[in-house]
Formats: sequence, C-alpha cells, structure tokens
Amino acid sequence: MSRSLAVVTGASSGIGTDLAELLAEAGYDLLLTARRLDRLGELADRLSVSHAVTCTSFAADLASPAEVQRLIEALAPDRSRLAILVNNAGFGTHGFFHDIPTDRDLEMIDVNCRALVQLTKAVLPWMIANRSGRILNIASVASFQPGPLMAVYYASKAFVLSLSEALANECQGTGVTVTAACPGPTTTEFGVAAGFHADAPTSGAPAMTSSAVARLSFDAMMRGTRVEVTGIRNRIVVAFSRLLPRGFVLRTVRAIQERRRRSREGRSRPS
Ligand SMILES: NC(=O)c1ccc[n+]([C@@H]2O[C@H](COP(=O)([O-])OP(=O)(O)OC[C@H]3O[C@@H](n4cnc5c(N)ncnc54)[C@H](OP(=O)(O)O)[C@@H]3O)[C@@H](O)[C@H]2O)c1
Repeated sequence: MSRSLAVVTGASSGIGTDLAELLAEAGYDLLLTARRLDRLGELADRLSVSHAVTCTSFAADLASPAEVQRLIEALAPDRSRLAILVNNAGFGTHGFFHDIPTDRDLEMIDVNCRALVQLTKAVLPWMIANRSGRILNIASVASFQPGPLMAVYYASKAFVLSLSEALANECQGTGVTVTAACPGPTTTEFGVAAGFHADAPTSGAPAMTSSAVARLSFDAMMRGTRVEVTGIRNRIVVAFSRLLPRGFVLRTVRAIQERRRRSREGRSRPS
C-alpha cells in the first residue's frame, strides 16, 4: 500500500527543510518544492536514504500562478493519499514602503499569500473528500501587529493568520485541521533574503533555531492546534502586543526595524 504524502513549500532552506526532515522521520512520502532544485535534490536524496521514504523534488517559482497550477497538476494523481500540506515558502522585504520596488512587494504578496490561497483551494477539497488531512501555514509573530519598515511583510502574515483561523473553523467536523504556526526571529536565510543580516539586532532576545521552530510547528499541526506561537518569548511578545496601546506597539516595532536598518546601512558603508 502506498504511504501518505506530505507537501512542503519552501523546503530548500530554513524552517521548510527542518519540517521536511520531521515529516520524513514520521514516515511520510514527500513532495518538496522551492526554486533551488539543487538544494531540493540533495535534501530529497538524504531523506530517502535516511528514512526509507519516497521524496520528489519539484522546482517551482510560487510567485507565478501558472507555476502553482503546474504544482497542483503534479499533485492531482496523488490526491487520495495527500495527507499534509505545509505552506511555508515566504520572504520579507525591509525598508520604507515608498522605497521598496512595487514589483518586489507584489512578488512577496504572490508568494506569501496568493500561492498559499491557490494551493490550499486545490488541496482542501481533496482532503475533505478523504475526510482527513492537515494543513500547516507558516505565519509569524508579525501577524499580530503592524510592522513599520516591513509593512507589506507584516500585512501578508496577518493575512495568513486570519485566513488560517477562519479555515480552521470552516473545517470543523470534516476531518481536516488547519494550523497557523507563528515563529518569531529564527536563524535561517530569511534575513539575507530580506536585506538584513541574520545577526541583525532585533529585540535583544536570541533567535530560535529553525529545528526548534519546525518541531513546535509540526507537533501543533499533528495535534490540530489552531494557532501556535512558537516559544515562550514569542508568546509573551504576542500577549503584550495584544494588551498594549497600538501606538506604543507601532513605536516599538519601528525601533526594532530601525536598528536593523542602521545595522544594514553600517555594513554596506565602505570601511
Ligand atoms: N526566519 C524568521 O525569522 C521567520 C520568522 C517568522 C516567520 N517566518 C516565515 O517562515 C517561513 C520560512 O522562512 P525561513 O525563515 O525558513 O526563510 P528561508 O530560509 O529564507 O526559507 C524560505 C523558503 O521559501 C522559498 N521561497 C522564497 N521565495 C520563493 C518563490 N518565489 N517560489 C518558491 N519558493 C520560494 C525559498 O526557496 P528558494 O529560494 O529555493 O525558492 C526557501 O525554501 C516564511 O514563510 C517566513 O515568512 C520566518
């Protein structure tokens, strides 16, 4: 009998790679997708050997609706065994809204939001027909507050959280669960992609490892938890951001992102 299949977007680095590892360890066959096929291939080879599961690499640029559609068509023959969808692929942009090129922010919305909607709209009916399935969406601590100097990124993650919670409710009684995992600062390639360095200053709290974030997110998905803010520090941040006046929260986030901006500008100045 064929094994259940899990799909992980953004599996070529960071949290996605670690989630793929946990899913392989749990015995799922995997379809791993991202743009960097070389990375996916290496991961697929490693996981197939170490966990005796079948791993397929699928190169796709999720900023393109046509590429997402190609991914959906590749998954369709496996719809009856598709057990898990992890919408993890995403990136951020950093700087003043008016300075960030429009195309780059729209590309981010396409990856962080549009691809997630397109993929989930295709997969969820299959899971409902199977009366079983788990969807894990990687949101962020950023989902809970506006983010000056990362305005579109924070808004995109608010979208992911809001959508996930609504779908979790709609799916009650279907056998399908939807989980939003909300990491805070995590050591991955995210900072470099966003234009600040991984060790750029944030709130002073140390970043979590991607393996710790993946473990907490994976466990929450398997329990069917609706929202998982990963780690005690991040839960405190979220609790305070809900209690404190919005103006104070905005000033605090601005100050954190300004530190990142100054650190980036400091590094790019010739010494
Ligand atoms: N790191 C943090 O501090 C943090 C905090 C909260 C939430 N998150 C969220 O966690 C998720 C994973 O990020 P990460 O921290 O693990 O960062 P990462 O190491 O940069 O990984 C991002 C993944 O997304 C993929 N991706 C980016 N653009 C893509 C595109 N156009 N098409 C297909 N795949 C694309 C990348 O693959 P390719 O480049 O190979 O395409 C990569 O596999 C993201 O949704 C991020 O917003 C991260």
